[in-house]
Amino acid sequence: LFASTWDFRHAANTLEALPPPDGVEIALAGRSNVGKSSLINALTNRNALARTSHTPGRTQELIFFSSNAPLTLVDMPGYGYAKVSESKVKAWTRLIHDYLRGRVNLARVFVLIDARHGLKTTDDAVLKTLDLSAVVYQIVLTKADEVKKAELERRIAETKEKIARRPAAFPELIVTSSREGTGMEELRATIAQILAE
Ligand code: GTP
Ligand code: MG
Repeated sequence: LFASTWDFRHAANTLEALPPPDGVEIALAGRSNVGKSSLINALTNRNALARTSHTPGRTQELIFFSSNAPLTLVDMPGYGYAKVSESKVKAWTRLIHDYLRGRVNLARVFVLIDARHGLKTTDDAVLKTLDLSAVVYQIVLTKADEVKKAELERRIAETKEKIARRPAAFPELIVTSSREGTGMEELRATIAQILAE
């Protein structure tokens, strides 16, 4: 699955511009700068397949990546704070929600949460959209290399508790660091499992 070559396939900044649904789609959502694009690169073993930046607001469209496997990975613009105009943020927010609500071949959404900060109120809107449309989502903690073990354990426990009663939340979290490669095998195995379902 991840041994093959991954390529950019499509970019869309409106619902009308989405590619026709084809095979299984898995999307990465999360606040701006949480590490969505970096995670795509780490997963696919590519340095610069998805464009990353330390300035929040780098990814400005839905970006579709595919390989010869029947799987498309979708990098999304971040929500919450971004160093761009308010109108852009509004347009992205709408696109994110419309896409998450209506995409028929969306098999799972990984909702990325910074291991330093945990779930924030800005994440609630997206979790709510996913709960309402019954799209299964799974929390992926990112930047685990930035926190000490005890803090990480606290964050895991606190996050599990916060999602426990959410209807579409997958109960298990995945802890990752794109910088150190932590959690990549677990994430790849999870994706392989989703494809096998
Ligand atoms: P937007 O597209 O702006 O929403 O951001 P994004 O979620 O795609 O984040 P991106 O992958 O561009 O990464 C944002 C910043 O976090 C960059 O400076 C990355 O180098 C850094 N970063 C990403 N993953 C990790 C990680 O595992 N550990 C650490 N320490 N930094 C990371
Ligand atoms: Mg990005």
